[in-house]
Amino acid sequence: MSRRVAILISGGGSNMLALARSMTGDHPARPCLVLSNDPEAAGLAKAAALGIPTAAVDHRPFKGDRAAFEAALLPHLEAARPDIIALAGFMRVLTPDFVARFEGRMLNIHPSLLPKYPGLDTHARALAAGDAEAGCSVHVVTPDLDSGPVLGQARVPVLPGDTPESLAARVLKQEHVLYPAVLRRFAAGDRRPVLLAG
Ligand code: GAR
Repeated sequence: MSRRVAILISGGGSNMLALARSMTGDHPARPCLVLSNDPEAAGLAKAAALGIPTAAVDHRPFKGDRAAFEAALLPHLEAARPDIIALAGFMRVLTPDFVARFEGRMLNIHPSLLPKYPGLDTHARALAAGDAEAGCSVHVVTPDLDSGPVLGQARVPVLPGDTPESLAARVLKQEHVLYPAVLRRFAAGDRRPVLLAG
């Protein structure tokens, strides 16, 4: 039986698309829902075009009440019965209670070589530090932000003249390779890390 994957997004959803497109053929999982905190997220229409059920819960009316926002997300997730939740550019911090509910089966992609640069502005921080390489990580979500066990990383060089935007574009290409590779392994019950060099 295929594992069911719910993908949570906030924006363009390019990682969601890479994941969704990878789940065909002998892949052990299939997408069951794409859920966004932004009803205008461009990724929702892209998911719908692939025939994936979509839903949105606007976080703004909750005015920072994370628990109430998550309580509104839950019925969508319960109806979709996911085995795995993949955060893919989902830009809301989740409460420990929400994370505990899906302990060990929620993944996230983060645009840095964790444990470096949890949080925001990862590419600008890598450039400011003079790093020779950058990259992305897929990790299991735990209550501490961007701190769970790393299941895979892809590395890219930092090139002369890089801006946060040029570096982000180079890393994003690798995100689209790394996340599907990790999800495929994870859905098959294999937690050996995926290590890629771009
Ligand atoms: C990606 O670069 C992802 O790693 C990042 O947001 C972007 C979403 O792009 N996620 C985070 O920064 C999470 N803290 P996408 O919507 O095109 O997948």
